[in-house]
Amino acid sequence: MMTDAPVITVDGPSGAGKGTISHMLAEHLGWHLLDSGALYRVTGQACLIEGVGLGDPLAVAEIARHLEVTFSTAESGEILVAYKGLDVSAAIRTEEGGRGASKVAAIPDVREALLQRQRELQRPPGLVADGRDMGTVVFREAPLKFFLTASVSERAARRYTQLIAKGESVNLPRLRKDIEERDARDISRKISPLAPAEDAIVIDSSAASILDVFESVLREAKNRGFS
Ligand code: DC
Repeated sequence: MMTDAPVITVDGPSGAGKGTISHMLAEHLGWHLLDSGALYRVTGQACLIEGVGLGDPLAVAEIARHLEVTFSTAESGEILVAYKGLDVSAAIRTEEGGRGASKVAAIPDVREALLQRQRELQRPPGLVADGRDMGTVVFREAPLKFFLTASVSERAARRYTQLIAKGESVNLPRLRKDIEERDARDISRKISPLAPAEDAIVIDSSAASILDVFESVLREAKNRGFS
């Protein structure tokens, strides 16, 4: 069901800080948060669990149509994601989880299957929507759109720090290559490619701290009467 609840979209490539900024903004405004990437990640993970190969678009789309996914917030504030009641929060956040998500996200029927699920989250008092095509496809009418970006080397360095903190073993050149491959797949796919909406405010965070970026985002939100 579509409502009049306002939506602020935050799109951009992986590692540009969208997740953190969207989370901070949703908390600040007291709005709902849509992490659309998590839906694609869970779809990839569900395929793995159900034994469906990512090269079989019909079967992957069927998984997306019947995706039993639930989101909850742990006491620590961490968002927990479950597939059929099984906690997949950690599994979907690995580099492999990101690669699988990017592959299933290129299948048109998968995007179609997840579209309505995303739009259902447009509820009062408002929604912050984080993804790749939030401003261009899913919430085209959103009154405020951001596109966050950063250089590949900066995004690889940030991701490296995050993964090391999680105890994952990572290799920086490999991570950089993964990011480049994922960008190429997300930008070049025929359906809903990663691109800024015409009316998006583009913020390059390569040389800015998360707090600086958040300040710019908040300033724009206040200018539009959201605060
Ligand atoms: O934001 P993320 O890294 O969790 O997203 C994982 C993958 O999902 C990303 O490589 C592309 C895809 N994705 C998408 O195609 N459309 C979205 N709205 C969100 C994510």
